[in-house]
Amino acid sequence: LPISPFIANLPKVELHVHIEGTLTPSLRWELAHRNNIKLPYTTFSDLKASYAITLNHRPELHGRQPGIPTFLEAYFAGCEVLQTETDFYDLAMAYLTRCAEMKVRYTEPFFDIQAHTRRGVPAPAVLNGYLRAQRDAIKLGVHSRWIFCFLRDEPVQSGLDAYAQARPWAAGNGKGLFHAVGLASNAYERPPMLFEEGFRLARADGLHVTMHCDFGQKDTHEHMGEAIFQVCGGLGAERIDHGLDAEDEEVLWRGLVDRGIGLTLCPHAYHRRTETGVLFPKIRRLWERGVKMCFNSDDPTLMHDVWVDGNMQKVYSFCGFGKSEMVQFVRNAVDMCWAEEDIKRAIY
Ligand code: HPA
Ligand code: ZN
Repeated sequence: LPISPFIANLPKVELHVHIEGTLTPSLRWELAHRNNIKLPYTTFSDLKASYAITLNHRPELHGRQPGIPTFLEAYFAGCEVLQTETDFYDLAMAYLTRCAEMKVRYTEPFFDIQAHTRRGVPAPAVLNGYLRAQRDAIKLGVHSRWIFCFLRDEPVQSGLDAYAQARPWAAGNGKGLFHAVGLASNAYERPPMLFEEGFRLARADGLHVTMHCDFGQKDTHEHMGEAIFQVCGGLGAERIDHGLDAEDEEVLWRGLVDRGIGLTLCPHAYHRRTETGVLFPKIRRLWERGVKMCFNSDDPTLMHDVWVDGNMQKVYSFCGFGKSEMVQFVRNAVDMCWAEEDIKRAIY
């Protein structure tokens, strides 16, 4: 789908992107060589070809095709080439440079500490690499506030340990890399309330709280109910990442509207496995009911290289939104974001 000049030129805000999901095949190839890591591909074009198919992560479906990794398997396999602070800096700068090219003025990337510490990478290498990129990207006109993610398929205690390690890089008394916590990875039988202690600690540190409610997961409506009404001592999450399944149940979408919880939607992530005529009317119905939303890329290099501009183009082309609505979605993202007021004013 070609990106129209209107979408290309629109100043943008991105609130749902996993930094590890922006690792390009070419940077992965370069880092593998830099760090003497053997990839299961002998040529660069074999590596590139492996990005053509990434199955959606549905472990409850047993009909797996042998040899083809699920989405999250591909995502964590990509992480293996990331070893040193410089690698994390290069990953982050590549994404933030691309932001500048796409006119993304402000972004809140997720990062997974546990994906790296469990491989033996020291947490400070990850955090200092991102911190340096956060600072250097300001010169490109790209501001960022990052989001620490708990990996929900790891033990709760492992996430709490990672949070304790990352805390000196938080906003407030820390170095200011991240202003929020999130919840990511495989949601299968891992409801949000399992992580209530982590959310409580983050809130006590003055951080914001968001969480993934992936589209079409098992128990998705129960998970959404917890995210809207139960977590954070009953206050609910401040945002929900994805959350499209709320459209199915009035109590859920009304809860989003009444509590002012915005959704960070990633249209291409759903379009990979949902008919155009089913998906885009569903997004439009949520919008018509007054649910606040913005459009984002999730894991662009693992999702056919569709970045935030391509995701905005999809709803512009397929939801019947006009230019003024598209501008409003960027304004929604500014409202939903966790930048300081001066940055918000500058990007509004
Ligand atoms: N869903 C959940 N967790 C993730 C994803 C996703 O699509 N990408 C990276 N972490
Ligand atoms: Zn995501």
